Amino acid sequence: MPQSNFAPINAATRLCAVLGSPIRHSASPAMHNAAFAALGLNWRYLAFEVDPKNLRAAIEGARAMGFAGLNLTVPHKLLAVDMVDELDASAKTWGAVNTIKFENGRAIGFNTDADGLANSLRHDLAVELRGAKVLLLGAGGAGRTAALKLAAENVAELFLVNRTASKAEEIAGEIKKQFSSIKVSGGYPNANVDLLLNATSLGLKPEDGSPLDEKQFSLKQTRAVYDMIYQPAETALLKNAKAAGCQTANGIGMLVGQGAKAFEIWTGQTAPVAVMRRAVEGSVYGV
Ligand code: ATR
Repeated sequence: MPQSNFAPINAATRLCAVLGSPIRHSASPAMHNAAFAALGLNWRYLAFEVDPKNLRAAIEGARAMGFAGLNLTVPHKLLAVDMVDELDASAKTWGAVNTIKFENGRAIGFNTDADGLANSLRHDLAVELRGAKVLLLGAGGAGRTAALKLAAENVAELFLVNRTASKAEEIAGEIKKQFSSIKVSGGYPNANVDLLLNATSLGLKPEDGSPLDEKQFSLKQTRAVYDMIYQPAETALLKNAKAAGCQTANGIGMLVGQGAKAFEIWTGQTAPVAVMRRAVEGSVYGV
């Protein structure tokens, strides 16, 4: 987005920011500033390196200075739950806050990650979540949110696999309690699934292998594979999945989806999703 499209900064400029640690490589400033420019809004989005011990002070400072909103990233999403005045249903459901809106002096916490994932699965892979059979790898923070969101979207059957099996069992138990109609089990399925979703962090490092045990589950048994990792753009899992003829997508669409939702919460306007996606791809991949 050319600089000239930005409304000039003046005393009326509204501010948003992302707080995290580390924050240097965040694509959020590029994404949101491109969106503000596309809509001609006199808004700006900044990034701040904030140590967890200063998070409360940073949120209070942003509120005191009249910021429109904040995003929170690693390691702040859980901590922030206790630092807002009110939790939107999304933040209550997922037990984490990635977006704050300041409204009439109050800080309201939201979570847009789960919606970002569901939208990306629909748009990037054309997966119909209702009634789908899904194999989910990973039972950390991202895996738990993904599992609960898939359940809330009425998938038919969920297979949860994790290196530490007890964590997958714990999430399976939570889903059985909250969503009695969904079949959920730990371990690999024998039959075919509609979607394989990676929510582990295995694949982030260049030397990482695939999180899927192909002796237990063949990539021929799924139509689509989604990897929540977007850097590198093609993990070992996605490479193998493409070679096996699966439809594939990485997590860039989820990043854009959670950002688009936050943008709409702050501005009340429809997010220019295509603009945001181009800006993120430019920032992350230099394209
Ligand atoms: P996030 O918030 O990104 O989910 P996390 O909560 O630390 O991060 O979870 C990381 C996930 O990646 C977990 O499912 C973890 O498996 P364990 O629960 O057994 O730790 C998984 N993971 C990380 N490194 C892995 C590896 N080398 N092999 C397989 N799974 C791995």
